[in-house]
This record gives sequence, structure tokens and C-alpha cells, in this order.
Amino acid sequence: MFNLAGRSALVTGAGQGVGAEIARCLAAQGAKVLVNDLYVDRADEVVASIREAGGTAAALIADISNLAVLTTELQRVEQALDCKVDILVNNAGIPAEGMTIEKFVDSDPKDWHRHIDVNGYGLLNATYAVLPAMAERGWGRIVTITSDGARVGDPGIAVYAAAKAMGPGFMRALSKEVGQVGVTCNCISLGSIRNPNHPVDEVRQANMNKRYALRRLGTPEDIAPAVLLLVSDEGSWITGQTIPVNGGYASS
Ligand SMILES: NC(=O)c1ccc[n+]([C@@H]2O[C@H](COP(=O)([O-])OP(=O)(O)OC[C@H]3O[C@@H](n4cnc5c(N)ncnc54)[C@H](O)[C@@H]3O)[C@@H](O)[C@H]2O)c1
Repeated sequence: MFNLAGRSALVTGAGQGVGAEIARCLAAQGAKVLVNDLYVDRADEVVASIREAGGTAAALIADISNLAVLTTELQRVEQALDCKVDILVNNAGIPAEGMTIEKFVDSDPKDWHRHIDVNGYGLLNATYAVLPAMAERGWGRIVTITSDGARVGDPGIAVYAAAKAMGPGFMRALSKEVGQVGVTCNCISLGSIRNPNHPVDEVRQANMNKRYALRRLGTPEDIAPAVLLLVSDEGSWITGQTIPVNGGYASS
């Protein structure tokens, strides 16, 4: 089960954190993986770890908010790996922890763009770049990582929440367009993930843990298997859904 041999996956923002673990997990199941990130050193490190484990991967350095650059680099890396992407994981995003927790009325409109550009346009661009080949092949999987901060509605992160809320609406609508050509589209909605790149102080961490049924935040390893299910043949009857993977943060 969950064999991805013969498949090729583009994981955006895969240079660290959740995306890096998803990339490693899909590669371990046999997919060729295109490891996208803004930063060469991050992507190269993930590619090296996949190759060391016996998998196949290449870095795809591009800002996903730039469709022209993304398309050119995608074609170049697909040629290098002799593949066409048939699995897309829209993971890249600017996490809420990266922005100051603040009331929307106090936010600076100049700060809105980067959230909409990456979490919004990045999602549209990456999907636009790979969808025609999926439709032509008659098989494709698109998984978009969204946030329980948007799904549930947490205070202080309204702009981030607005940008992350694009994923579920886009996946739901797109699933109805492309189901007939064998492409599924889903979201996974994450609770807070422990991320050494975005450290949280111990008091805040303890308070956050209390809001989870399982009394802990998630890890990238908690997320990757859920993505694997959705992108596998075994997940072929799941489409148009937003599936929370959140340690019981919110259960409705
Ligand atoms: N960490 C959490 O608690 C949490 C919670 C809910 C949802 N999420 C979502 O999960 C996803 C991954 O989160 P994470 O914590 O692993 O993030 P992270 O910040 O650790 O890693 C994100 C990666 O994306 C890359 N990236 C950023 N902008 C990019 C762009 N324009 N083009 C290409 N690459 C770009 C970064 O360089 C970075 O390597 C994000 O979409 C985030 O919104 C995270």
C-alpha cells in the first residue's frame, strides 16, 4: 500500500519543517521529488538526505509567487529528472508565528502582501503550472496545507488566516472541475506544529498544549503520513475535503 513508484511530486517550501518531512516521506515511498524552496542551501540539504536514503530528488529553486520563474524552473527540473509532476503538495507559506500577533486594525497594509503572495498566489501558480500535465495523464493529486488558525479562527492572525483560507475554497471548487480527469484536490488543516525554526517560549508552549486534546503540539512527522494517504492510489475516493490533522485542537 501507499506505493508511489513511478510518481513525481513537487513539494513547495520543502527546504525545512513540514515540507521537508513530506518530501522525505513521499521519496521513501518511491516518488521522485522536486524539492522547492526560496533558499538553495535548505533545498540542497533535503535533496541530499533523500538521496542518502536511496531516493530520487532534485532542488527546484523558485519563489512560487512568481509564475514565470516557477514554470521555467519546473520544466528544467522535470527534464533533469525525466518526469512530469503528477503530485503537488502546496506547502509553502509564511507561518503565523512569523508575523507579529496583532489586531487587524493595528496591522500595516504593507505587511498583507507577502501573506497573500505566498499563501495565495503561490498556491494558484503552482497548481496552474502542473495541472495540464496531470489532466493529460488522467491521474493527479493536489494537497494544500492550510491552518486551523484559519479554519477555526484564532485572534491576532487575521491576515494569515485570510490567506490560508484560500486553500479550502480553491481545492473544493477545483475538485469539481478536475475529478472527471482523475485529479483529486484536498486540504490538510494543521494545528500548531513544533518548529525549531519558529521557537516558542516555554510558558506560551505550556499554555498552547492545554488547548490540544492530546496535550501536545504536532510534529512534521505527524503530518506527512496524512499527505501520503491523500496522494496515493489508496486515497483515490477522497476529494474536495479539508481534513484537520490537529491533535484535537478543534473537533468540529
Ligand atoms: N508551523 C505551524 O505551526 C503551522 C500551523 C498551521 C499551518 N502551517 C502551514 O504549514 C506550512 C509549513 O509550515 P512550516 O512551519 O513548516 O514553515 P517553515 O517556515 O518552517 O518552512 C516554510 C518553507 O517555505 C519556504 N518558502 C517561503 N516562501 C516561499 C516562496 N515564496 N517560494 C518558495 N518557498 C517559500 C521557506 O523558505 C521555508 O523553507 C505552511 O503553509 C504553514 O502556513 C504551519
